[in-house]
Amino acid sequence: MAKQTKYVSRLPDASGVIAYTDAENAIWAELFARQKLAIRGKACAEFMQGLDLLGLPEDRVPQLGEVSQKLKRETGWEVAYVPALIPFSEFFALLADRKFPAATFVRTREELDYLQEPDIFHEIFGHTPLLTNRYFADFTHAYGKLGLAASREDRVFLARMYWFTVEFGLMQKPGEPLRIYGGGILSSIGETEYAYNGSQAQRRRFDIVDALRTPYRIDIMQPLYYVIEDLRELFEMSQRDIMGLVKQARGLGLHPPLFPPSAKTGEIKSPQKQEAV
Ligand SMILES: [Fe+2]
Repeated sequence: MAKQTKYVSRLPDASGVIAYTDAENAIWAELFARQKLAIRGKACAEFMQGLDLLGLPEDRVPQLGEVSQKLKRETGWEVAYVPALIPFSEFFALLADRKFPAATFVRTREELDYLQEPDIFHEIFGHTPLLTNRYFADFTHAYGKLGLAASREDRVFLARMYWFTVEFGLMQKPGEPLRIYGGGILSSIGETEYAYNGSQAQRRRFDIVDALRTPYRIDIMQPLYYVIEDLRELFEMSQRDIMGLVKQARGLGLHPPLFPPSAKTGEIKSPQKQEAV
């Protein structure tokens, strides 16, 4: 059974085009304009290069097909239409096929600053630029294949790996300033500032077993971010025996949460907020 949501993905017509309204295009334009400014000097160079390569429209919601065309050219990836919430199994199957699942609805004006569900601005602006990067694209592909083969219990651990990298990852190359690469941060005006300035959140050097053991919540600013050195590190990690590391993490148990308990904990949800099935 699908989790309740007030949003429904917009369906493409027979030619694959979604007819967005003027109001939806205006929300995209506003989000794009302010986020482009917000991430300046904070997003990693690879993300900014990806934005350039994609050449996303600034004044209207992009069609998935036009984004796919550019991604295919760079790394062979595509963006695939999905309803707002999808099961884990479908999520992993799409990634394993180099298709990034994207819900196509646009957030309402009331939720301009924050919404729990991933809308098209989060999916496209937040996630697709880095899929133009070979290391990141190959890492995401390997992640999909791992998840597809994993048990339900192990998928919960894999979801944490995704959460602390693809969604909320930070990066610091030797001798360079801290940068953001996580799409969950880069598509959020509030979390871009919060994560970058770092006065309230902890930052820890990324360690895969540590990350697998770290609980998270989807409805608060993150109390902890993991920092990688570069995107190659993610790719190299994906070549390791990840399921062996999941087993190790399961044996060691979870770290104590750095947040108060909540009925709305995201712990059983995947980073894409799809229901766990
Ligand atoms: Fe996401």
